[in-house]
Amino acid sequence: MLAVIGGTGFAEFSQLENITGSVVSTGYGDVYVEQGELHGQKLVFLPRHGHPPRFLPHRINYRANIDALVKLNVQRVLAVTAVGSVDPSLQVADLVIPDQIIDYTYGREHTFYEDELTHIDLTYPYDTEFRAELIHCAEQLQNVSGVWNGVYGCTQGPRLETAAEIKRLYNDGCTIVGMTAMPEAALARERDLPYAGISFIVNAGAGIEDEPIEMDVIKENLDVGLGRVVQVIGAYLKSS
Ligand code: HPA
Repeated sequence: MLAVIGGTGFAEFSQLENITGSVVSTGYGDVYVEQGELHGQKLVFLPRHGHPPRFLPHRINYRANIDALVKLNVQRVLAVTAVGSVDPSLQVADLVIPDQIIDYTYGREHTFYEDELTHIDLTYPYDTEFRAELIHCAEQLQNVSGVWNGVYGCTQGPRLETAAEIKRLYNDGCTIVGMTAMPEAALARERDLPYAGISFIVNAGAGIEDEPIEMDVIKENLDVGLGRVVQVIGAYLKSS
């Protein structure tokens, strides 16, 4: 079964049918999840900012979220994230299926290995096979534009970046900027859960355009990109 983790603007998966909400208890805390169906396939939906949304990116209980998905026996995790562009050629509502991450976060509970001496491999943080299947689905869709690789720069937030920080991210090789890919991706790997991401652009990164980044504009920009993400999820479920 697929699990979809929803982020900003994706607190409800309104296209799901036969939804049942429940709370999964883990050693790290309780997690609200929904189980439902899309195109006749069962899936788990986990709104990472909570239900209703209230946890800022640095306060999300990433360990509890990943552990809850393990408890539900999901086979794959698709992480949906609203992001800013770092590559100036990207437009609002473009999709990105990143293949790499640079972690700029700090102070987050970021591992299940508190006492055990283990170093997991994270050379490729996103599951190669799962990514390839998602890319195949995205490529078939007519009205979906974007890039099928890229580096997700994960910042601490909750504030947005300075213009100089976005320039630094660009020089570091980042394509997009968001606040939630880490430690989520690493924790999924620690639990051996195949994890891939689809990001959709909701604003140009700080300093790329002249205007300041307003939350109202981000909210207005959410719908088209998210609609495209749901199309990719639908195509993936139909093909699997
Ligand atoms: N920066 C970081 N995270 C984000 C942004 C951004 O510009 N837009 C949406 N999430």
